[in-house]
Amino acid sequence: MDYLEITLEDSISEIFKIGQESFEQFYPIKKFLKKLENKRYWVYVAREKNEIVGFKIFYEDDDRQIYDWLDGVKPSYRRRGIASKLMRMEIDFAKQNNYSKIKIKTHKGHPEMLALCDRFGFVEVGREPHHWADSIDKEAIFLELILKKSQLLPNLAASGLSEEL
Ligand SMILES: CC(C)(COP(=O)(O)OP(=O)(O)OC[C@H]1O[C@@H](n2cnc3c(N)ncnc32)[C@H](O)[C@@H]1OP(=O)(O)O)[C@@H](O)C(=O)NCCC(=O)NCCS
Repeated sequence: MDYLEITLEDSISEIFKIGQESFEQFYPIKKFLKKLENKRYWVYVAREKNEIVGFKIFYEDDDRQIYDWLDGVKPSYRRRGIASKLMRMEIDFAKQNNYSKIKIKTHKGHPEMLALCDRFGFVEVGREPHHWADSIDKEAIFLELILKKSQLLPNLAASGLSEEL
């Protein structure tokens, strides 16, 4: 399995296929593209042979934080750690680029995502009923992962010990 950053142009048709298999109602193409308009965004994928089997799209939001927008893994490839690897890559990217937080919005209809987020230490920071009034009538669950930078304390560095700050 390869894990890589890719352009949207090179992945959009396969992302749409997985999205349609993975979400009750996936975005219509126009709405999907509108969401990314004028944003700095990144597309990470898992690829086996020449086929994309999992993806993650995240972008920088107005507060200069990372917003994890869309995640999906082809059903026959689930529960093999693919989404976890993509999440780890996103967290590493966010830390390396000095973002302080990753935010995710989901709902109870995605228990796998809630379990995955819990595993990575995301915490719930709020809920909003009828959040997606224009599409699904579900209560949104807002999650956040606060990022800490790894640093060596000067005195500990000298002694060869380190501490995660
Ligand atoms: C959510 C999703 C991306 C997870 O992908 P995945 O590659 O199967 O996830 P991983 O294999 O990395 O799972 C990591 C952990 O998440 C949790 N998890 C994932 N799927 C789970 C399930 N069906 N039941 C319970 N826990 C689950 C487990 O803790 C799992 O670790 P484990 O397998 O060692 O127990 C995938 O299920 C999916 O595409 N779902 C439909 C779309 C979706 O919900 N997207 C997110 C919307 S916000």
